[in-house]
Amino acid sequence: MKIAVPRERRTGETRVAASPDTVKKYIQLGLDVVVESGAGAGASLADDVYREAGAQVAADAAALYAEADIVLKVQRPTDEEVALLKPGTVLVGAMAALVNRDLMAALAERKVTVFAMELLPRITRAQSMDILSSQANLAGYRAVLDAAAEFKRAIPMMMTAAGTVAPARFLILGAGVAGLQAIATAKRLGGVVYAFDVRPAVKEQVESLGGKFVEVDADAAKDAETAGGYAKEMGEDYKRKQAAKIAETLKKTDIAICTALIPGKPAPVLITEEMVRDMRPGSVIVDLAVEAGGNCPLSELDKVVIKHGVTLVGYGNVPARLAVDSSALYAKNLLNFLTPLVDKDTKALKLNWDDEILKGTCVARDGVIVHPALAA
Ligand code: NAI
Repeated sequence: MKIAVPRERRTGETRVAASPDTVKKYIQLGLDVVVESGAGAGASLADDVYREAGAQVAADAAALYAEADIVLKVQRPTDEEVALLKPGTVLVGAMAALVNRDLMAALAERKVTVFAMELLPRITRAQSMDILSSQANLAGYRAVLDAAAEFKRAIPMMMTAAGTVAPARFLILGAGVAGLQAIATAKRLGGVVYAFDVRPAVKEQVESLGGKFVEVDADAAKDAETAGGYAKEMGEDYKRKQAAKIAETLKKTDIAICTALIPGKPAPVLITEEMVRDMRPGSVIVDLAVEAGGNCPLSELDKVVIKHGVTLVGYGNVPARLAVDSSALYAKNLLNFLTPLVDKDTKALKLNWDDEILKGTCVARDGVIVHPALAA
């Protein structure tokens, strides 16, 4: 069986779906690996590094896809790549399947078996395969550094002979995987950190990282979490109280990091234009939710803009801004997903379709869309 690793083609994508480390592991499993020339360039990985790990290097996508049994991707394929995929190929990557139904249908029609890693069930056994967690963690870290780079003041308190510099005050909105890492990073830089989430379960986690939890309505929040640990959309009364609390906190905030998401829905609006207007000039907002519409309607995708004296940072695909680490962790997630699927004797994939992890991630097989969230 041959694993193929193409160069990512979507704009701004610097990551790669296999690392020299995972290439070695695939070879130990008895698989062959072929990497497209230049695939690792955005993550500072030259073709020779992959060769040394035991991979072949293909000159271009056509040569690569022609011999692929399994294709590992970071982003969903482009139309040109879909046309190169042979029937029967297994495709694994982040597909954004729920919002790219036409593409999923096109892949099904080509008889590609598609695994959408963003749909992985969040069960304990799957933690090491969880691309959302590995990438969100790095995004949360990077968001704080991006904020610090735009902020025209220092973060930690400094007592000097020339006077005292006050510490920067952070508000982290959404304390999931990205938010918790943002809290930890802001604390390490010496900031004073407040955080807020609709799920009351995170209060303890915020406090254990040294953050202060901003509480809105403990009673209403009891019902804020799904069985899977995700947030639900909240009622109007809660939203009003939440907005008042955020508005009050933002007036004393220097840097807001927005990470609030609701799976399958647009991101909740948490910072309105009026709230931005009331922030101190020179404040910074980093909106990690910008690709889902943003937690602040003033942030703009892939842009840094200044509005009402506040700098709004709207970088999309933040994990691609740390391509070395994000690729290494992403590659490991895919390795952990594929390893149990390889039969030790035949060195081929043996797929148990009753397995919760396969059922949860498989979008298409045998020419049909099979995922319950997508099947018509
Ligand atoms: P996410 O990326 O979907 O959302 C980020 C955060 O935004 C969440 O904490 C959510 O509660 C919060 N949020 C949503 N609406 C909000 C609002 N209106 N105001 C404020 N905050 C709002 O979630 P993420 O980070 O991917 O993880 C969510 C949960 O899943 C966490 O509890 C995490 O620990 C858990 N998880 C479990 C895993 C496992 O057991 N395998 C793996 C990864 C995460």
